[in-house]
Amino acid sequence: MIIPTPSRSSPRPGSYALGPDTPLHVADPALAPVARVLREQLLPGTGCTLPPGRGGIELGLDAELAAAAGARTGDGTGAGAEAYRLTVAPDGIRIAAGGPAGAFYGVQSLRQLLPPHTLRRTALDEGPWELGCVEIEDRPRFAWRGVLLDVARHFFTKRDVLRLLDQMALHKLNVLHLHLTDDQGWRLEIRRYPRLTEVGSWRTESQPGWNDTGDGRPHGGYYTQDDVREIVAYAAARHILVVPEVDVPGHTRAALAAYPELGNTGEQLRVATGWGVKPDILNVSDATLDFVRRVFDEVVELFPSPIISVGGDECPKDQWKASPAAQARMAELGLRNEDELQSWFLRQVSDHLRAHGRQLLGWDEILEGGPPPAATVVSWRDNHGAVRAAREGHRVITSPARRVYLDYRASDSPDEPVPVGTVLPVEEVHAFEPVPAELAGTPAADLVIGAQCGLWTEAIDNVRALDYQAFPRLSAFAETVWCAAERDPADFAERLAHHLRRLEALGVEYRRPEGPRPWQRRPGVRGRPVTMAEYLAEVEADTRNIR
Ligand code: ACM
Repeated sequence: MIIPTPSRSSPRPGSYALGPDTPLHVADPALAPVARVLREQLLPGTGCTLPPGRGGIELGLDAELAAAAGARTGDGTGAGAEAYRLTVAPDGIRIAAGGPAGAFYGVQSLRQLLPPHTLRRTALDEGPWELGCVEIEDRPRFAWRGVLLDVARHFFTKRDVLRLLDQMALHKLNVLHLHLTDDQGWRLEIRRYPRLTEVGSWRTESQPGWNDTGDGRPHGGYYTQDDVREIVAYAAARHILVVPEVDVPGHTRAALAAYPELGNTGEQLRVATGWGVKPDILNVSDATLDFVRRVFDEVVELFPSPIISVGGDECPKDQWKASPAAQARMAELGLRNEDELQSWFLRQVSDHLRAHGRQLLGWDEILEGGPPPAATVVSWRDNHGAVRAAREGHRVITSPARRVYLDYRASDSPDEPVPVGTVLPVEEVHAFEPVPAELAGTPAADLVIGAQCGLWTEAIDNVRALDYQAFPRLSAFAETVWCAAERDPADFAERLAHHLRRLEALGVEYRRPEGPRPWQRRPGVRGRPVTMAEYLAEVEADTRNIR
């Protein structure tokens, strides 16, 4: 009944009773942090303190598991560290792992062997809980098992982010891609440029549905640098990498509102209050590039991630076309068009990140004028970016909007509380295959290091709405990146029915199988679902508009 389902699970005769007196033995000091999280996670809902001792749960390392080939990483590193074997026997529970990550995943599976109510914040009974004997062998299929959270369109508090990290950990997801800046808000304290948050983190109002006027309510918020340190450390204890995204050179209206000299027109702009792609982008002066470098200096100081996202998506070039300074820059550099100018811009950022020992991550638009060397590409506009990037030797993360953007409506019911027309039911998420068919069986497929789902938040303005959009589709997504390509939808449906009780115990307000309730309907949403053909036409039109 575990989600994501383990690679192999073999029931054995007998059972083990886990109770308040069950001890914990940690066989390797490298696993002490995993033991700490295990105690933290188990204590509230079971009352188990797991005193040190033998004959209960044992955590250990296994060199054979560590050496075995595991998840795709593109370069083969770290493969077996996420593998684990979980054995429930009449005389105790053993978790043997290739590395601390594997031990952590073994612990997450163990939590799912217990009754759902043991995931609550307080113990509803004292146990003991009988666990049927079993031997589980498990390892992920992909190295990158990501969730994107957009905290720019709507701000989610530090508490909300920590809560999402807990939910991700239960599902063995290991990358939180945090979209920190956009036209509608700048969410990261940058000491050198205080106006980014003083001015850029607030807007006067929001647009509740795509076709509506503003709601008249100010919205904003940002993370202090200490908030970020806390989020990063909390994630690391759960084997989750936080990958920050500061989107440049487009999606920068909030920064331009704070520092108009970064723009192309000199106009004093306001932080955007409506959605959609804005024409306002950074200029290409030395001073602006220096600003970008100084911002990334603070970003790399805060986020230990070896990979840092510069966004690079949806950057309309009209202002550069109209700007004598941008045109002069293009001429000076011998560039043929504005796509190449964006490539040059991102190359400067990439070089700077490399000087810090970090690599650049960008959306598939970075391919248009030629991507920086060694860039990793997140492909979101269907799969053509993934196919091109992998064939050109870049590492790829697939995140096709139509298949894994969880802010899309979950059914064609007009009561779905989101204005996004595209319908993406849970079954379709579960059927998602991260490796594009065009690459399957070719060497380039090895460059697909995983996939990530997207929680864009134009239509998600609070944590209850976030729960509704994310779950249970995020549980389905977890299977697509952890499990083998062949997955049985009926088996998933059965496990999901049980898993919903876990989500309930955790206080996750998932979307009910019967659909939205009347009180979840929101005013002003565009209720009409679109067909696949209409959707593809929209994608094409959008792509034309942003070129
Ligand atoms: C994106 O959805 N604009 C990456």
